[in-house]
Amino acid sequence: MTRTSRSNPTPASDSTFSDIGSRNGRIFHVLDPRQFDRGRLDELCALATRMRQYAKSRLGSRSFQTLLPHKRAMLYFTQPSTRTFLSFENACHLLGIRTSEIRDPAVSSEVKGESFEDSIRTFSSYADVIIMRTQGPGMASQSAALMDRIGRPVPIINAGSGRDHHPTQALLDIYTLGRSFEQRGGIDGKTIGLMGDLRRGRTVRSLAYLMKNYKDVRLIFIAPEEFAMEEDIKQDLRTADIAFDETDDPASVLADLDAIYITRLQKEHDLQDESSSFDHLRFRIGPEQLPSLRSDAVIMHPLPRGPELDPAVDDDPRAMYWRQERNGMWMRVALLVSIFEVDGELPR
Ligand code: NCD
Repeated sequence: MTRTSRSNPTPASDSTFSDIGSRNGRIFHVLDPRQFDRGRLDELCALATRMRQYAKSRLGSRSFQTLLPHKRAMLYFTQPSTRTFLSFENACHLLGIRTSEIRDPAVSSEVKGESFEDSIRTFSSYADVIIMRTQGPGMASQSAALMDRIGRPVPIINAGSGRDHHPTQALLDIYTLGRSFEQRGGIDGKTIGLMGDLRRGRTVRSLAYLMKNYKDVRLIFIAPEEFAMEEDIKQDLRTADIAFDETDDPASVLADLDAIYITRLQKEHDLQDESSSFDHLRFRIGPEQLPSLRSDAVIMHPLPRGPELDPAVDDDPRAMYWRQERNGMWMRVALLVSIFEVDGELPR
């Protein structure tokens, strides 16, 4: 195992990124996990919890419908998605937002040769927010830059940009970690293992970036060398003075973890599939690994799963991934409420 330096940091704030996606101090575009500082993360998590509490009553959930019925969302998902698409769609519907969708570029004018930017500009003519998942990196940022040049800019939400980033997944992961550690002082001071295809996994990349907002957190990257976390993320953690270890031996660290976040092999992000070298028997959580985990550890996975997470784990009280999935909808509700600045209209 290798170890990098650490001192006892105060969570870093990265001034270069503090203005990304913001207008007048409010969230506008959601592009990159680096645009969220601790204050904003705490605010969004509290808002998500407040919204789900209201939704428990019929009156509360009906009042949501009156928050944003004048808004329309474009769901432009040209890469496969189940949870992210459905949770955004349902978050919109909970708030009264009407939705349109394109899920297959073969049915858009892009097949006639229309440029990506012209397509995005067209969506902005009809919708008030564009939520997009793309095969390539940087396309949400490119769309946001376009919005900043046109007369009727609408917010862009990055729902997964190639193997690069997945900021709203990272937000819901933070929300899930925070709720799981509610009685244990929150995320500060926790040891979190990220295991699997860390090199090509956008969820773990984005989550690692957000970790620098928490005090005394220790990350352990658990992966075979060929699938290790990329240098850009590690460099960012070093700059923020966040401790991380790396290992290719899961058994040596399982007992240290407050949470383990497992990811599947991201075969689709490489033309040349290198996945055959991945040893699923080693980098997995199944009934055999459960006794090594602490009794209060949390097991997370962004889903969909592959052989790295045995369905037999579902019945273990430490399995948090189905709750994590539902938390995603509430975090996306909170984001939309925040972007459209209707939090002040919620009942007190
Ligand atoms: C993730 C993704 O699409 O990156 N899924 C998701 O959004 N919940 C993780 C994955 O596909 O492995």
